[in-house]
Amino acid sequence: MRTCMWVLALLFVFGFAWEVGADQNVPTERISGSAGDVLEDDPTGRLKVYVYELPNKYNKKILQKDPRCLNHMFAAEIFMHRFLLSSPVRTFNPEEADWFYTPIYTTCDLTPTGLPLPFKSPRMMRSAIQLISTNWPYWNRTEGADHFFVVPHDFGACFHYQEEKAIERGILPLLQRATLVQTFGQRNHVCLKEGSITIPPYAPPQKMQAHLIPQETPRSIFVYFRGLFYDINNDPEGGYYARGARAAVWENFKNNPLFDISTDHPTTYYEDMQRSIFCLCPLGWAPWSPRLVEAVVFGCIPVIIADDIVLPFADAIPWEEIGVFLAEEDVPNLDTILTSIPPEVILRKQRLLANPSMKWAMMFPQPAQPGDAFHQILNGLARKLPHAQSVYLKGGQKILNWTAGPVGDLKPW
Ligand SMILES: *[C@@H]1O[C@H](CO)[C@@H](O)[C@H](O)[C@H]1NC(C)=O
Ligand SMILES: *[C@@H]1O[C@H](CO)[C@@H](O)[C@H](O)[C@H]1NC(C)=O
Repeated sequence: MRTCMWVLALLFVFGFAWEVGADQNVPTERISGSAGDVLEDDPTGRLKVYVYELPNKYNKKILQKDPRCLNHMFAAEIFMHRFLLSSPVRTFNPEEADWFYTPIYTTCDLTPTGLPLPFKSPRMMRSAIQLISTNWPYWNRTEGADHFFVVPHDFGACFHYQEEKAIERGILPLLQRATLVQTFGQRNHVCLKEGSITIPPYAPPQKMQAHLIPQETPRSIFVYFRGLFYDINNDPEGGYYARGARAAVWENFKNNPLFDISTDHPTTYYEDMQRSIFCLCPLGWAPWSPRLVEAVVFGCIPVIIADDIVLPFADAIPWEEIGVFLAEEDVPNLDTILTSIPPEVILRKQRLLANPSMKWAMMFPQPAQPGDAFHQILNGLARKLPHAQSVYLKGGQKILNWTAGPVGDLKPW
């Protein structure tokens, strides 16, 4: 039987030395001369960031109200703030800053069940921008072109979790000149502005670390997936979810012995990923999900099923080489496609994934580590320097329209 052949062929797999350089014996592979290398760039000295001081109601107070915000997948907005406060790239002199950062937690308004609602975010953002543009001269100088904002919600600065609504809203007018740091990434989409930095969602580093299993553990599961196949209630009649891609996975492979797929979320979820060769990362409400981070961290080859997805730090991480990409319409052929990948190709992907720099780039650890996602964001910002002279507006010139957008957004926050 095919499964046995795979298990034998891939018994010899490579785990993850959690501490960088902890185990020099783990065979890892680097991609020399190409993207992978810039992951190790040190941003210190390449940019200076000024952190605006805002009243606590834009950040700390919001978190105090609901500490669950520290653990959900949008927590990068909080950890990025904490990181920058003590980062060597921070400057206290705005005159010498390359970038301005506004610490505002727009995704920390949670329902009782923990789902973030972005309905107040536009008003909150507008209020913060009003404040910085009145109290400091730097916003008006460029109308935000040298400012960056972390907007990790599903559709970034479109501030809605439903795609049609997000598209209808578009990017908040006041943010149209700023650089957006966001998880959402899909080519040719109104919610992805050119020049944005796509980041991974937040997955709790300590929790992942606590579930590491010995690196030599064989990868005896061929394809692994846990999650919804239909809508939020997993109801096949519940409407069009994930553009039908997840439904197609279930309908085609629920009885296939190579596929370990289900909606149950077992307590051994992280361990299971470390025992798997391929981990499915299909789109959900957004093109990405935390599975992408988990797959990389646990050395399980991500099978990315999300047409036109823009992956995190795509200018630094060689996604084509570590993952498998599958068009949404090809889901019915998933078994044939995966079983026809030669073992040596699989081994190479596993070796690349075993490179700790790949894993650090996907994480927001506390304290920060060289090469982690914080550093990749800074590297991305540094690569955008110097700003074009044309971003500096001449004497009182105004480009942004402060009264554009839905009237509801114009109400005070
Ligand atoms: C920036 O421009 C706005 C008008 O668009 C003005 O109200 C504000 O006072 C200006 N800020 C500073 C610091 O001059
Ligand atoms: C700004 O947007 C509002 C609302 O869409 C519009 O009525 C107004 O004409 C715009 N102003 C300018 C200067 O374009």
